[in-house]
Amino acid sequence: MVFVLEGLQWGDEGKGKITDYLASHMDIVCRHQGGNNAGHSLVVNGVRYALKSLPSGIINPKITNIIANGCVINLFSLIEEINTLKEKGITNFNLYISSRAHIIMPYHLDLDGAYEELLKNGKIGTTKKGIGPCYSDRSSRLGIRVGDILEPEYLRKRLEEVLPIKNLTLRMVNKKEYDLEDLFNKLISLKPILEDHIIDTSRFLREAIKENKNILFEGAQGAMLCLDNGTYPYVTSSSPLANSVSINASIPPQTISKVVGIMKAYTTRVGEGPFVSELDNEIGNTIREVGHEYGTVTKRPRRVGYLDLVVVKNAIEMSGVNYLSLMLLDVLTNITPLKICTHYELDGKIIDYIPSTISELNRCKPIYKEMKAWKEDISKVRNYNDLPTETKEYIKFIEDFTNCKVAFISVGPDRDATIIKEDIFND
Ligand code: GDP
Ligand code: IMO
Ligand code: MG
Repeated sequence: MVFVLEGLQWGDEGKGKITDYLASHMDIVCRHQGGNNAGHSLVVNGVRYALKSLPSGIINPKITNIIANGCVINLFSLIEEINTLKEKGITNFNLYISSRAHIIMPYHLDLDGAYEELLKNGKIGTTKKGIGPCYSDRSSRLGIRVGDILEPEYLRKRLEEVLPIKNLTLRMVNKKEYDLEDLFNKLISLKPILEDHIIDTSRFLREAIKENKNILFEGAQGAMLCLDNGTYPYVTSSSPLANSVSINASIPPQTISKVVGIMKAYTTRVGEGPFVSELDNEIGNTIREVGHEYGTVTKRPRRVGYLDLVVVKNAIEMSGVNYLSLMLLDVLTNITPLKICTHYELDGKIIDYIPSTISELNRCKPIYKEMKAWKEDISKVRNYNDLPTETKEYIKFIEDFTNCKVAFISVGPDRDATIIKEDIFND
């Protein structure tokens, strides 16, 4: 069976934790988009792992982990990430990287920084990992792909064609230019380290599907950061929607069995852009501190708000989500007043959808449903029935409003701090 895990908000929903948790049911875990802008944390037996480009099945030695075509990869940072894992004792892992994935080149980082500076107040608040410039080069057909480092002659020819164009752009934004020989040597030095991992992952995945393997596609970011459907321009440069898995991993769309949408019990966002249910007050500060809402990649304090179900429902409807995974519910203990945003008010009208223009979205005011708060610590609860009545009402409200069942409830960062409400493998 093929499962897709999609973030339904602005990222950081807890994808790393639930992927690691689901990995015991999987043969393969695959990242299909994004790059090291993602930061996925998982905690296993008290040890915290912060993954960026590596799929979150990497801790489990039985899993084959894949970084597919739709990803952009900073190979130098990937090697650092692998070395950090090795230092933590994770030496026995299976990793395949798509030869078609694009390489985040050092100049992409310079350009990401330069564009943000030039945008001044209009800046996106990117992670400055070179994501936008790398995906732009892919679309402009100026990219360098992972498979190119296995073919030195081709790589040199490609750099001879592309680098002058990149140097021209770098000169225009007052950044230092790159020397071809130097860049070539740096990239070629990676060949012996990575060559055993680089394959045609498209064929590998299609074969695995024919053999009825269990595969989980682990999304990065979240639906509201989708390049095509999010709060453009305050988005990332790929599509985190389950809809994009087919193209990003070269598998037929009909082979996807289930889409699991993952959401926090509240809302967060890092970077600039509209956020209707944002709490710029003491309640927001409390949620930030209790939930440790600081970026895994950039350490920036995350912006925090009440749960926005307009956002969540929009994503569920776009990607046909079958089940929900509700994360960080423990953080809402003692949060009073406890509210859920169900609609927006736009220019005096009540609406139940995300307006398509940023200026309209910026004018939206939240309409809230007040929920009953609970005071009990729920972090040790492992059975749904043991949750306080008010907590169950909060979950039921989400299910009824979205018309989607909650399958997993997460009450702490650790792998074990999870309540299974529905069996997604046997329905
Ligand atoms: P991802 O990008 O979607 O993988 O999410 P991040 O790892 O960036 O952010 C989620 C954070 O919440 C991490 O620090 C996790 O360890 C933590 N976390 C995940 N689930 C829970 C939970 O149920 N309760 C609490 N308190 N923390 C959680
Ligand atoms: P995970 O996978 C939260 C945000 C950045 C910025 C915008 C564009 O951990 O959920 P980019 O560097 O992609 O060009 O930045 O997208 N962003 C994320 N926010 N979680 C992420 O990933 C993010 N990846 C990018 O903060 O607003
Ligand atoms: Mg994250």
